Amino acid sequence: MPHHQLIVVGGGLAGLRAAVEARADGIDVAILSQVHPGRSHSGAAQGGINAALANHPEGHDDTPEKHAFDTVKGSDYLADQDAAIQMTSDAPGVIFEMDHWGCPFSRFDDGRIAQRPFGGAGYPRTCYGADKTGHYLLHCLVERAYERQITMYVEVFVTSLITVDGACRGVVAYDMIRGGFEAFTADAVIMATGGAGRLYSNTTNAIISTGGGAAVAYHAGVPVKDMEFIQFHPTGLYTTNILMSEGARGEGGYLVNGEGERFMARYAPKAMELAPRDITSRSITTEILEGRGIGGKDFVHLDLRHLGAQKILERLPGIRDLAIHFEGVDPIEEPIPITPCQHYTMGGIDTDVDGRTVMPGFYAAGECACVSVHGANRLGGNSLLETIVFGRRSGAAAAAALLGKAGGGDVSAAGRQAVADEEATVAMLAARGADGEDPYAIRAEMTTTMKEHFGVFREDKLMREGLEKLIQLKERCARIGLRNAGGVFNVDLIRTTELEGMVDLSLTVAHGAIDRTESRGSHARTDFPTRDDERWLKHTMAHYPPGGGTRLDYKPVTLGTFEPQERKY
Ligand code: FUM
Repeated sequence: MPHHQLIVVGGGLAGLRAAVEARADGIDVAILSQVHPGRSHSGAAQGGINAALANHPEGHDDTPEKHAFDTVKGSDYLADQDAAIQMTSDAPGVIFEMDHWGCPFSRFDDGRIAQRPFGGAGYPRTCYGADKTGHYLLHCLVERAYERQITMYVEVFVTSLITVDGACRGVVAYDMIRGGFEAFTADAVIMATGGAGRLYSNTTNAIISTGGGAAVAYHAGVPVKDMEFIQFHPTGLYTTNILMSEGARGEGGYLVNGEGERFMARYAPKAMELAPRDITSRSITTEILEGRGIGGKDFVHLDLRHLGAQKILERLPGIRDLAIHFEGVDPIEEPIPITPCQHYTMGGIDTDVDGRTVMPGFYAAGECACVSVHGANRLGGNSLLETIVFGRRSGAAAAAALLGKAGGGDVSAAGRQAVADEEATVAMLAARGADGEDPYAIRAEMTTTMKEHFGVFREDKLMREGLEKLIQLKERCARIGLRNAGGVFNVDLIRTTELEGMVDLSLTVAHGAIDRTESRGSHARTDFPTRDDERWLKHTMAHYPPGGGTRLDYKPVTLGTFEPQERKY
């Protein structure tokens, strides 16, 4: 049974940065990842990473405090202000570190790291590598992890935590290559598995972004926070929902409706296409609902033609390729059909600014966590930043807790029991086989329900109908059958066993959204159209009681520096 001082679950930016940090302190660290780390979803991030470097000619007086203000205002004042200030003050340092480690950021002519405008930001502060920023950062950190000789278990899928006396002491994972469950014991675990975009049928997220890490934690008794806040990116490709970076609008791209208007003038006259994502997605959706989509259909245009071929080829080559290959449109010649798509999970495992959770020895960082720096609406470019800042901080905190501490004792008996429990569950699913409920049918109904009932605009009756459907799907989960009982590389086993956790997370979104009778950030209710600070300036905490269900309670937002005010752009 493999044992390491620290196990990091997830090989994306947050996991890699956590592991690299802890290893620098001499800790024996292992990364467990469902895919090779270089294929993690962080690599799909395109437009950039925010830091107040003040390199842009129009941003010389930018500061981390101004970045914190924009972040808190963007969050519709639900972000914890201490966490937002921590992130923005760590930001310049982590960018310079990644630069020194070899990340090929784009440059201004004077050699300094280039920055572009992004939505909701008072200054152009988004550092970028063309439109492949996530890919560059990810590969830089993968190299760093190899250089630090971090143990990597690749193509292992974590299904549960091992706990002893209430503390986290490892994980159980299905080893896809060997074809069986294994216990990986540890003195501490950091969860860094990314978001839950695949709860929705219309997402920019990868197949692996199913919320697995958050569900595993939630089932083990760790609360998830603010799950009702789901970000819809304004510009996903119409037919495939592939991301068309905000960088395209940062470089000057227009949003145009079926009447040829730059309609953002109606909704955000100052910021126009660079309004925050919640406002921009609502504006596009309103245009479509009011019949001003292109040809009356349910999409509008992202028009880049006026930028010219040179700028598109230099700064946006990736999205041009994607538009050509997946939509048959060359943005140099034609406008791109786009529609808002699920993009980001603002909520997640409740942590402090060092990744600590309520469970001793269990930390979380990145999109699976909720610190909370994004509150009700994340600003573009703050997600890559969050992964690196809080990955580093959680790695440092876990290492500090482990250093000089004797190992927590032999937990192999607990590990063996946890493996036996997983094997028994799978044996039961396999015994039902094709006679059991079809997990793919349940998944399809769940993702469609989330899209149709918990989308850009929400309303009580519609959401309650969605909740009813989710409750029925949860009941059907108890009768699921596993079609493929094979051992080696059984992807069917993964998709089947993760499903109930996805339904449980969907239920946290549904309950949180129905109960929150206000509109704030991405949570836009037509029946409660205004923000209600008196009643709702608080975080939603969802708990999974023994025996199932969803229990909500609330905790205060950390305020202090920025007084909540009406958001205008
Ligand atoms: O639009 C984008 O390039 C995405 C950036 C982000 O989600 O932060």
